[in-house]
Amino acid sequence: MKEKVLKVNESPYRVLSLFTGCGGLDLGFEEAGAETIVAVDNDFEACKTLRHNRPEWNIFEGDIRDYNPAVRDVDIVIGGPPCQGFSSAGKGDPSDPRNFLWREYMRVVERVKPRAMVLENVSALTHKKNGDHLTGIMTALEAQGYNFTYGVLNAADFGVPQARRRLVVIGLREGVPTMPEPTHAGRHVTVRQALADLDGNFDEEFSHMPPKHAPHVAARWAELDPGETDPNYRRARLDPDKPSTTIRAGGGYGPKGDHLAGFHPPIHPWQPRQLTVREAARLQSFPDDWAFKGSKTAQGRQVGNAVPVKLGEAIGRHVVGMLRAQDAEKSDREQTA
Ligand SMILES: C[S@@+](CC[C@H](N)C(=O)[O-])C[C@H]1O[C@@H](n2cnc3c(N)ncnc32)[C@H](O)[C@@H]1O
Repeated sequence: MKEKVLKVNESPYRVLSLFTGCGGLDLGFEEAGAETIVAVDNDFEACKTLRHNRPEWNIFEGDIRDYNPAVRDVDIVIGGPPCQGFSSAGKGDPSDPRNFLWREYMRVVERVKPRAMVLENVSALTHKKNGDHLTGIMTALEAQGYNFTYGVLNAADFGVPQARRRLVVIGLREGVPTMPEPTHAGRHVTVRQALADLDGNFDEEFSHMPPKHAPHVAARWAELDPGETDPNYRRARLDPDKPSTTIRAGGGYGPKGDHLAGFHPPIHPWQPRQLTVREAARLQSFPDDWAFKGSKTAQGRQVGNAVPVKLGEAIGRHVVGMLRAQDAEKSDREQTA
């Protein structure tokens, strides 16, 4: 009898990416065997970053509310709607119009009917005060015939040198989805492992220039213990032997509730200064050849907003794996029939 050969789809799965930012989630999915067909974002500096790194991607630079998808045969819709209104790092204004952009995500899903969807957001979306939004997402998925699951993943459990907890919703049109299992539980990558080789080597093009601080600030930071927070700056000096604290997009809020403009990353573990954009990108597991465009503030925002690439890759491998298994099963059935 002739041996039966299972035909497994080896070509990349087609991704429509919403709220793409500088492409952390997309890059992870690319590593996992998917390719971005269209990327949508309204931040011109983030779009500059995308065009620089992936000139072949089709980028819709504008408000998602004006985006009418013409693309066909989308396998996976991915995206992380803005989270400033939900984030426990921000003030969490419930009437912030950005809180409702998940509806735009679901509108696009309804139009393109992908086989799978992945929605990422801050873990605060699971908090009671934001419950209506999560319920809204689940209701919309149910109405569109998706089976779904969701959970909070810690990026550190997936090889990212950073503690970053994110809500991930995974939906499938066929079959019952599961969540990815941690790959690095109990063996986290540390800040030292991620940053040690970057000492010196400063280079503007590489987004790696040491910030200049007033001498009294540098003196104060030099006295901080690893993991200790500076009460004025409200950021910790990183502990070199642990994963980093969460890298944030904006400045957050100062001691008097005032908004801190600009890039306000954690304090370097063994130098009395802030991290550079490149160091923050390393802690987000971006590869060194991924360039960031725009002002330093814009670059910091892009990096802090991103899904860590290695977390994106783990989610991508899991989702691509579920689709490949479905394709292999289908091919098997066709051969048997
Ligand atoms: C949390 S970030 C996404 C980060 C991205 N997933 C990554 O891994 O790099 C949210 C993105 O949504 C974009 N955005 C916010 N409002 C938008 C809108 N109305 N239309 C399109 N994009 C929007 C922001 O510019 C930002 O880049």
